[in-house]
Amino acid sequence: MLSLEAVYKSYHSGVPREILHNISFQVNPGESVAIVGPSGSGKSTLLNLMGGLDRPTMGRILLDGRDLASLPDEELARVRNREIGFIFQLHHLLPQLSVLENVLLPTLAFQADENAIARAESLLNKVGLGAHLHQRPAQLSGGEQQRTAVVRALINQPKLLLADEPTGSLDAENAENLGNLLVELNRSEKVTLVLVTHALHLAEKMDRVLELRNGLLNRRKPA
Ligand SMILES: Nc1ncnc2c1ncn2[C@@H]1O[C@H](COP(=O)(O)OP(=O)(O)O)[C@@H](O)[C@H]1O
Ligand SMILES: [Mg+2]
Repeated sequence: MLSLEAVYKSYHSGVPREILHNISFQVNPGESVAIVGPSGSGKSTLLNLMGGLDRPTMGRILLDGRDLASLPDEELARVRNREIGFIFQLHHLLPQLSVLENVLLPTLAFQADENAIARAESLLNKVGLGAHLHQRPAQLSGGEQQRTAVVRALINQPKLLLADEPTGSLDAENAENLGNLLVELNRSEKVTLVLVTHALHLAEKMDRVLELRNGLLNRRKPA
């Protein structure tokens, strides 16, 4: 479903630096894949490319056969909104909106269907936030905020969920719970999951673990 073909990425701030060197791999529908690697190894860079938030210097990134870099801006925006869900280290919830309103935000970009509220409530129940629908993010714990962000990422039923250090700001117990929740949702929502983390215990929950180091991507699990 997602295919990277000989992807290179360099940054040119002063001296050019190559972050990703000839990366090729495929993600199959329904799979869960972790990408691990030291800080600064280019994990976020790689994930942003997969989500069409940035463009490779060379190579192609295909989502269901469509080269993201060659899509017109409007079509790329539609793909990012409808087909891809993003979760970041910080939840980026809007403080003035309730939990339910935050979750419904991505549905406003297009003709909101009547089922959106029902789906939002059902997912929020599923992640244990049923009693918090009308609270503001500031009234939630860190784990609850991040679970809200997970539901927001899933509200448009994306086929691909991209998570960048989703447990990075959580304590050990909440990090463990969020990891288990992502694995559960990968199965129950049939959403393909690509997760970037430097936490190996989280990565080990995924079907496949790849390691990014010195611009190269190598398989860690299954070894
Ligand atoms: N927009 C940018 N311009 C220049 N350098 C960048 C930019 N974004 C990231 N980098 C550099 O690329 C390297 C990889 O960054 P990143 O992908 O964020 O790594 P990771 O997520 O693995 O910590 C870092 O050295 C970072 O400083
Ligand atoms: Mg990063």
